[in-house]
Amino acid sequence: MSTESDTGNHPTAPFTAPPGPGTSSAAYGTALTEVGLGAHAAEVLRTNDMGGWTKAAPLLYPHQWSWDSAFVSIGWAQVDVRRAMTEQERLFEAQWRNGMVPQIVFNSLAGPESYFPDPARWAVEVSPEAPVGVAETSGICQPPVHAIAVARIWEIALGTEAEEDVRTQLRALFPKLLAWHRYLAENRDPSASGLVTTYHPWEGIDNSPRWDGVLGRLEVGEVPAYTRRDVQHVADAGQRPTDAHYDRFLWLLELLKRYRYDDAVIHERYPFLVKDVFFTSVLIMANRALLEIADVVGATQAQRATIQGWIDRARAGVAAATDAASGMAYDVDLGTEAPIQVATFAGMSPLLDAGAPTVQRARARALFDSEDFAGHPDLRWAMLPSTSPREVCFDPRNYWRGPVWPIVNWLYWKGLRDGGDTARAAALREASLDSLRHVGFAEYFDPMTGEALGSAMQSWTAAVALDWLAS
Ligand code: SER
Repeated sequence: MSTESDTGNHPTAPFTAPPGPGTSSAAYGTALTEVGLGAHAAEVLRTNDMGGWTKAAPLLYPHQWSWDSAFVSIGWAQVDVRRAMTEQERLFEAQWRNGMVPQIVFNSLAGPESYFPDPARWAVEVSPEAPVGVAETSGICQPPVHAIAVARIWEIALGTEAEEDVRTQLRALFPKLLAWHRYLAENRDPSASGLVTTYHPWEGIDNSPRWDGVLGRLEVGEVPAYTRRDVQHVADAGQRPTDAHYDRFLWLLELLKRYRYDDAVIHERYPFLVKDVFFTSVLIMANRALLEIADVVGATQAQRATIQGWIDRARAGVAAATDAASGMAYDVDLGTEAPIQVATFAGMSPLLDAGAPTVQRARARALFDSEDFAGHPDLRWAMLPSTSPREVCFDPRNYWRGPVWPIVNWLYWKGLRDGGDTARAAALREASLDSLRHVGFAEYFDPMTGEALGSAMQSWTAAVALDWLAS
């Protein structure tokens, strides 16, 4: 692979200089000190900074991704709070008329060869809800980390000379965040089950085994020819989704386009409809954060009541989706009405909701440190892997089918801490920082060996490092 590769698969060498775009995170042959870690994390953000928005990764992800960008603004907050808010403002400029915040806001200068699928493949102009006259976007969305990020930015801005500027920015952003959460609570949950419906693996957890059953049932129709760009940037295709998965991802895109990205039509006819416990639990965390922001901007009582109503309904939805025997929260496949019983990080989603019933949290907490998850004896660090090492399909090197994702651990760390489990949260923070000192800012890593995988210099990994260091 050329030096242009984003991959983390280079031979280890003692750490010497700040990484460049072609530098592997595995090049941190020796562990970084705390100061070194923070300085290098900030350097990653600066390198990926496109002036007001941040690339998710130097080559593999050359555009603005929605939930990446939310995490990235949490990182920017440690460097420059105004810049952190700008990140969010830029993203929300591309918000759809129905409130959806798109998964990707495309960089018009990057060119169609830089990433696939490109705007032409999404063709979101078929939808009357797509924004007009602003940046091009994809036609799906990702977990709503944005309000969580904004509340964190506010916490950092408070008492500094930036406080009033940030408050003004928050006033402008609040209605947009509210519209975004309304879209998820209503358009993505027409039956008011409390659970958000996800339409596509690219809505966050890509090739997770959570989706295997639904994808396996798909009858894949004609997909216009395409060239995968991702495997050109990651030298070892075994770290990325398979071609069979990609064909399914692309077929689903064709159907969404055929249905003009219309949520009502999609809920009626489309074959990939999953009630997603993780997405929903992030929304609960985000709505709790939105209530904090509501206080700052002087929101109305009616607005607060609406947000609280969304929290209550989602909490009941997650409780109903929790398996009585195992304590695992399971997604529901709307095609079969059956729970998707796969052991992944999503099973402990109730921990993301600090207000979830105590018994439910306690069971999720026990699972978290069980040998099925962060307590597995072969793990290099006691962190949550994306898929349980005891699942038959566990693959320690393949994307969401086993590797550790630092951003997922950040969410669980926050959920544990906010829920009062401060000792476990502190230990998870320590383990995570230690892993980052050794692994660098890889997209994800092998839970057993700590080998850096996917892209190096992944913005959101650097961002959570900065936040952990400051917390
Ligand atoms: N993570 C997806 C990808 O691999 C897109 O969201 O490109």
